[in-house]
Amino acid sequence: MDSNPLVDKVNLPLHVGIIMDGNGRWAKKKGLSRSTGHREGVKAAKKVVKAASDMGIRYLTLFVFSTENWRRAQDEVSFLMYLINAHLKKELKFYRENRIRVVHSGDPEQLPADVRKSIADVIAATAHYRGLTVNLAINHGGRDEIVRAVQRWVEAKQSNGKKLSETPFTEKELSAHLDHPSIPELDYVIRTSGEMRISNFMLWESAYAELYFSADYWPDWDAEKFQKAIQVYQQRNRRFGCS
Ligand code: IPE
Ligand code: IPE
Ligand code: MG
Repeated sequence: MDSNPLVDKVNLPLHVGIIMDGNGRWAKKKGLSRSTGHREGVKAAKKVVKAASDMGIRYLTLFVFSTENWRRAQDEVSFLMYLINAHLKKELKFYRENRIRVVHSGDPEQLPADVRKSIADVIAATAHYRGLTVNLAINHGGRDEIVRAVQRWVEAKQSNGKKLSETPFTEKELSAHLDHPSIPELDYVIRTSGEMRISNFMLWESAYAELYFSADYWPDWDAEKFQKAIQVYQQRNRRFGCS
C-alpha cells in the first residue's frame, strides 16, 4: 500500500478520469519526436495507474485516444495504435500483479483488428480482479457514447416488440445503456498540459465532476503529482445543487 500519509484514504474519489494531454509539446520542448513523447506518456500512465491502485482508488478512466484523434497525421495515428497494442500485450503482467481489472470505453468498430483483439484479451484476462478498475478510453468520445447509448436503447426496445412512442425515455434509461452502466459517474477529472477544456471526454459521466487542471505535460506526471491532485480533491466542497 501507498505510504504517503498526506492522502486521506477515507475521502477518496470513487472514480477519477484523466485527460492525458501534452505528449507532443513535451517532446517538442526537448527537441524529440512526437512518438517519443507518446512513449514517455505511456510510462507516466503506468506510474499513475500504480499510484491509484496503491492508494485504493476504485475506478480510473484514462483518455487514451479520442474520436477526434483520427484527424491527426496518418503516421501519428498508426504509431498510437501500434503503441496501444504493444502496451496491452506487454503490460498484462503488470495488471495481473496489481490485481487490476481492465475495461474499455469507446467504439471498438473503427479500431484495427489487432488492437481490438488485444483489448478483448486483456479484458478477459483481468475480468476477475477486484482491485482498481482501469477503464481505457480508446476511440472514445462523450457524444459518440451518448449516441450509441440511445441506439442500444432503441434496439433493446424494438427487440422486445415495444413501441418507442409508448416507452418513456429517461436519464436512468440512458445511463443504463452507456458503455459501462455499472461504473459510477466521475468524481474528479484531471487534465494536464495547461489546456482548460473537456475535449469530448465522458460528457454524461462528468456532469458533476470536480475539475483539476495541471500545467505540466503528461510525460512529466508521476505518483507524486497524482497524490497532490487527490489531496486537492479532498479539500473540495461538493454540493450537487444543494445550498
Ligand atoms: C496526448 O498528447 C495524447 C493524445 C491525445 C493521443 P498530445 O499528442 O495531444 O500532445 P500535444 O497536445 O500535441 O502536446
Ligand atoms: C484529448 O487531447 C484526447 C486525449 C488526451 C486522448 P487532445 O490533444 O486530442 O485534445 P485537444 O485537441 O487539445 O482538444
Ligand atoms: Mg493534445
